[in-house]
Amino acid sequence: MELVISTSQGLEDFLIKELNDLGYSAKYLKPSKVLLNGTEKDIVKLNFYLRQAHRVGILLEKRTFENLNSLKLDLDLSWLPKGLTFGVRGRRFNKEGFTSMELAKKVADLIYPHLKEPKVDLDNPQLEFFAEVSGNQFILYLNTSGPSLHKRYKRPYQHVAPLKPSIAASLIYASSFHKTKELLDPMAGSGTILQEACYISRKVPPGLFREHYNYEYFFPHLSQLKDELYFGTVVEDINAYLEGGDISPKHLEGMKKNLKEQIIPCDCIDVYLKDAKKLNYPYVPELVITNPPYGLRMGSKNKIHKLYEEFAKALYKNDVREVITFTAEQTKMIRELKKYYEIKEIRRVLYGRLNTYLIKATL
Ligand SMILES: C[S@@+](CC[C@H](N)C(=O)[O-])C[C@H]1O[C@@H](n2cnc3c(N)ncnc32)[C@H](O)[C@@H]1O
Repeated sequence: MELVISTSQGLEDFLIKELNDLGYSAKYLKPSKVLLNGTEKDIVKLNFYLRQAHRVGILLEKRTFENLNSLKLDLDLSWLPKGLTFGVRGRRFNKEGFTSMELAKKVADLIYPHLKEPKVDLDNPQLEFFAEVSGNQFILYLNTSGPSLHKRYKRPYQHVAPLKPSIAASLIYASSFHKTKELLDPMAGSGTILQEACYISRKVPPGLFREHYNYEYFFPHLSQLKDELYFGTVVEDINAYLEGGDISPKHLEGMKKNLKEQIIPCDCIDVYLKDAKKLNYPYVPELVITNPPYGLRMGSKNKIHKLYEEFAKALYKNDVREVITFTAEQTKMIRELKKYYEIKEIRRVLYGRLNTYLIKATL
């Protein structure tokens, strides 16, 4: 079967690389989606291991789209058990002359006759179908994951602007962390980047933090394989040096809580109340990955620009060799980093509705 895997728009090639590392060959399908051939067992494995994915779906239809009225589906859903709740989410990526709700409604009407004794549930359907139109392409897939896979470990402390763990993982994959085995996040907020780095280093799969996936409703026999992966996981000791900081005592305390109150705590990480403009840490690693403040909620533009200026200077003064930042104030960040570093990559990532930029710079 064909499996469609989603991530944040702009990070598809990182996801393809992660899939390659797991032994899969995947290709780009469209913004935020990659495609591969897989089996039922792969559904279990991909949901369990992927760090950058949001959903693993079974592709049911991929066809040319002309207009909503003429849309037809050539479906065989006889393999689905009877009596499950179902819902359709519609998404259209251009202005096609109809709303996402109208798309969902049309597709729900087309799917309904193929299901056995279905009950509609738009909030938490057991069968969650995604119907997407972008340009003249229509795809329909069945979500095997349930809620987005970026929702993994508990967050006892909710930061005002937390990063999705899936994006934090992408920032780490974009870096040379696998070589340096050391990392500082000096504007760590609630600690997402550090936490992901800890779990990558200790080979802790995201699946250890999730009890249930939607595929268990329609492939109940797969729960056994899921349990085998869960109980067969061997967590390694940390073999990296991770350090973090934040200027806010409130966020620092929250970060400590988030790192500690987990089924696998990240208590190996040193965290400090410190100003990223000074970077006066006991030890400054050669790799810095951070998601600095941006946007009005996080402070005035002037203040943020001053922070970026001083931060870039402090990085250079402390011999940091590689810097990865994730910000929507990219112009200012690039300008400041350029004073000392070679810019290796500027990548636009859609974060919610906001264009945000991964900027990689090296000495
Ligand atoms: C966008 S948030 C980071 C969110 C984080 N990635 C997470 O997932 O929770 C930016 C953080 O930078 C911190 N910050 C702002 N100015 C700072 C400075 N001068 N030094 C250190 N941290 C600072 C803020 O307190 C805030 O927690």
